[in-house]
Amino acid sequence: MRTILVTGGAGFIGSNFIHYWMDAYPEDRVLNVDLLTYAGNLENLKSVSEDLRYTFIRADITDFEVMKRAMQGVDFVVNFAAESHNDRAVLDPGVFVRTNVLGTQILLEAARQAGVKRFHHISTCEVFGDLALDEDRAFKEDDAYVPRTPYNASKAGANHEVMAYFHTYGMPVTISHCSNNYGPYQFPEKLIPLFTTNALEDKPLPLFKSSANRREWIHVDDHSRAIDMILQKGTVGEAYNIGTGVEKSIEDITDIILDALQKPESLKTYVPDRLGHDRRYLLDTSKIRSKLGWKPEKGFEEGIRETIRWYVDHREWWERVKSGAYQEYYKTYYYDKIGKQ
Ligand code: NAD
Ligand code: TYD
Repeated sequence: MRTILVTGGAGFIGSNFIHYWMDAYPEDRVLNVDLLTYAGNLENLKSVSEDLRYTFIRADITDFEVMKRAMQGVDFVVNFAAESHNDRAVLDPGVFVRTNVLGTQILLEAARQAGVKRFHHISTCEVFGDLALDEDRAFKEDDAYVPRTPYNASKAGANHEVMAYFHTYGMPVTISHCSNNYGPYQFPEKLIPLFTTNALEDKPLPLFKSSANRREWIHVDDHSRAIDMILQKGTVGEAYNIGTGVEKSIEDITDIILDALQKPESLKTYVPDRLGHDRRYLLDTSKIRSKLGWKPEKGFEEGIRETIRWYVDHREWWERVKSGAYQEYYKTYYYDKIGKQ
């Protein structure tokens, strides 16, 4: 039996990872440390909440004393906790530095003092900056970090902290840079769940003006499997890119959603560009494929169809998220975006 401490486990990728891990390793214990910010939702974990192998601790990763206590007897830490949305980082960059940079350093220090066997840090393709739409290049793990947005910069800062703990203290760390995820339980501020749920409500879909900008898309379960392989077989002190090579533009994604839901083109609404809107990210994933034998299993067509269907079937989940506790957020942020067109 191992004990794995997951931070940010009530968010999109963290909750999917906890489901994945508990299914894959029935002997293990899982501790979920999450502050439950606007993005954290315990409903994502309803089916495991009574499971004796699972413990939830509501805490802030910047609280050193609590993190130190939580780390006692822990084998692996997987750090998902973060402020994760570029649009919000434009409005309030400070909280991104606090959670993503300071929070990561505090976790590292707590893990070091507790003698944790592996600290795996969840990073992003976005630390490498952006690519031109016609550029014939993909980011490699050892490319320099050239972040362009407050979110990207905070994630790059966190990576530097992780590597500093490796070089200075010999901490057994690994890092993964993943491309854009999609799947169930994604907070409807990100492109796919926002547009899917808006379309279901016959509300406008706010495409940023540079709607040919594109992203590399991966199903969240393929991300979870990759993290698992890095924990089991990865080399400490190293980083691994995780991606599929499947690129789709904002226009492509919008058309797929409208088509799947049989909704009209007229829902497309062009809004002013996000400040500092990155054009494109693409990862070279040859390292994880050749060294660890990972490859994505979920084809994009199948994965996106299933995901759209999940939002159709879980209307209660996203209606609650979009209203109630989140109403203020949507009033001040989302409706403003439409208002600015
Ligand atoms: P999310 O916003 O859905 O979830 C973040 C979680 O972290 C929430 O549950 C939130 O409550 C928690 N959290 C925030 N601040 C905290 C704090 N101070 N202390 C404790 N918990 C806190 O994010 P996500 O999309 O699931 O992303 C998870 C990780 O993966 C992030 O580190 C993100 O940078 C990275 N990532 C995301 C993507 C993507 O496409 N979503 C791609 C690559 C990497
Ligand atoms: P997003 O889901 O916010 O992820 P990221 O910025 O981390 O890649 O955005 C994905 C793409 O979709 C990005 O090019 C911006 C675009 N987008 C819109 O056009 N409108 C929106 O309302 C959102 C949220 C995103």
